[in-house]
Amino acid sequence: MNNKGPGFFITLEGIEGSGKTTHARRLFSFLEEANVPSLLTREPGGTPVGEKVRELLLNPESGAMDPLTETFLLEASRREHVTEVISPALQAGKVVICVRFTDSTLAYQGYGRGVPLSHLHCLNNIATGGIVPDLTLLFDVEPEVGLARSFSRTEEKELRFEKEFLANKEFLLAVRDGYLQLVKEYPHRFMVVNTTEHSKEEVFALVRETIWQKLEKRG
Ligand code: TMP
Repeated sequence: MNNKGPGFFITLEGIEGSGKTTHARRLFSFLEEANVPSLLTREPGGTPVGEKVRELLLNPESGAMDPLTETFLLEASRREHVTEVISPALQAGKVVICVRFTDSTLAYQGYGRGVPLSHLHCLNNIATGGIVPDLTLLFDVEPEVGLARSFSRTEEKELRFEKEFLANKEFLLAVRDGYLQLVKEYPHRFMVVNTTEHSKEEVFALVRETIWQKLEKRG
């Protein structure tokens, strides 16, 4: 199933409060206005089954979870998402904008929680059928700044990860370093956007220009 079709697959990654969702929404509106057929989606979630898994994963009431249990839940959501939503949209030639994807699993479950990266590459590959993003934007932010932003905008029933980060700052630092490690490993598809130093407007102008150029190149 790794034939991506004629579409273009963009993922947005980063720790909590890095601005991914805001920029994903703006990018989607921009492409819609330019009459580029697009789809905006997210993980965990993006399908009825995935949204149920999301509730389970993000609700603080779920409490601590074995890291592999957490991984399997995320991969189950991903499998459903790829087969029901992402792959059909790419086959139809759409630009798919997805907030979080396989790199989140490598950063959080791998670098953050210590699940062996080899397991995660294997599970990611099974869940996605080999689909890899064409472009991944990493929104980099200072952990303290991001966490404060995220607490102020996230509903209580989705704060499981944020609460854990507050109690264990090392976890969040490991996730951020993990992302930066992934950039070194896959420089051809990653672009790092620094959201601590630049204004929202500057960041979005950069995102818009980068994507427009890539889409023009693709024809
Ligand atoms: P968000 O939608 O607010 O970013 O929350 C999703 C949370 O799920 C976030 O804390 C990161 C976590 N997550 C993982 O740990 N691994 C994954 O593979 C994905 C997709 C999300």
